[in-house]
Amino acid sequence: MFEIVRIENFSPSTFLWEVRAPEIAHAARPGQFVIVRCDEKAERIPLTIADFDVVSGTVTVVIQAAGKSTFDMKAYKALDQISDVAGPLGEPSEIENFGTVVLVGGGLGVAPVFPILRALKLKGCRTISIIGFRSKSLVFWEGRFREYSDETIIVTDDGTYGEKGLVTQPLKQIITEREINRVIAIGPLVMMKAAAEVTRPAGVRTIVSVNPIMVDGTGMCGSCRVSLGGEVKFACIDGPDMDGHLVNFDELLIRQKRFSKYEKKSLELYEKKCQKK
Ligand SMILES: Cc1cc2nc3c(=O)[nH]c(=O)nc-3n(C[C@H](O)[C@H](O)[C@H](O)COP(=O)(O)OP(=O)(O)OC[C@H]3O[C@@H](n4cnc5c(N)ncnc54)[C@H](O)[C@@H]3O)c2cc1C
Ligand code: FES
Repeated sequence: MFEIVRIENFSPSTFLWEVRAPEIAHAARPGQFVIVRCDEKAERIPLTIADFDVVSGTVTVVIQAAGKSTFDMKAYKALDQISDVAGPLGEPSEIENFGTVVLVGGGLGVAPVFPILRALKLKGCRTISIIGFRSKSLVFWEGRFREYSDETIIVTDDGTYGEKGLVTQPLKQIITEREINRVIAIGPLVMMKAAAEVTRPAGVRTIVSVNPIMVDGTGMCGSCRVSLGGEVKFACIDGPDMDGHLVNFDELLIRQKRFSKYEKKSLELYEKKCQKK
């Protein structure tokens, strides 16, 4: 069993869990993920490691309630136990002194960008962070980003905080005006696709973290397949980090919706069950 040491709510639908898992904390590297199963009957939920602390023996994940299982996870309280946390899974992000790196996080994608930003800064990179949210009330970890970034740009869709607009706007300006050695973009698929299109003409290497539907997380089921430059790759073992200029985002967007009918039904049944309680 794994204890949830701390919970922090960022918004009504976004929350952080710090979970005691010393072996995972020891082995974890930026860019990797865990698969969580809350109890014996629960679904397996892949979640990116947003932070890890070897001293306290904890890993941190930031979760967005998107469907039945993640809504269910909102009901957990600090000191509750969950049955499984498997990981760390996936390939770690490449961490080197690349020169100047722009780190782009959209919405929940801000959380998985953080350990990559910190590791790149500690390696000596010059770091420019662009973090985007729908609105001011959804902003989290601004202080953490400012601590490890030479420049931090915050954007909100509605202009209630920082600059008004999408993360791709300041990204485009920076790519046009300065010499950038690498871009890391993590967020919704459409955002990562747009970021890759911004950097493609300038030929700036752009790494995205893909999140197709995963089952085993160990390369056996084929659920997480992604077309990368015409080759078949599995995000759980070949990624999640991938070259954004080679990912077939259109196929990924279609595959991501392949169970949506059942996901909708499952959430409706869950909501009915909750209302009866
Ligand atoms: C490598 C990876 C890292 C991820 N990191 C995070 C994270 O840090 N925080 C976070 O909130 N979410 C993360 N996700 C997405 C998260 O796993 C899904 O939101 C969750 O599984 C949805 O389950 P549900 O029952 O609540 O919703 P459902 O109603 O079952 O699904 C809602 C949507 O979530 C996606 N989804 C559903 N099942 C899976 C699955 N097994 N694997 C991947 N996506 C799925 C689908 O696009 C679906 O449309 C990550 C996914 C992957 C693959
Ligand atoms: S989740 Fe099964 S192969 Fe990747």
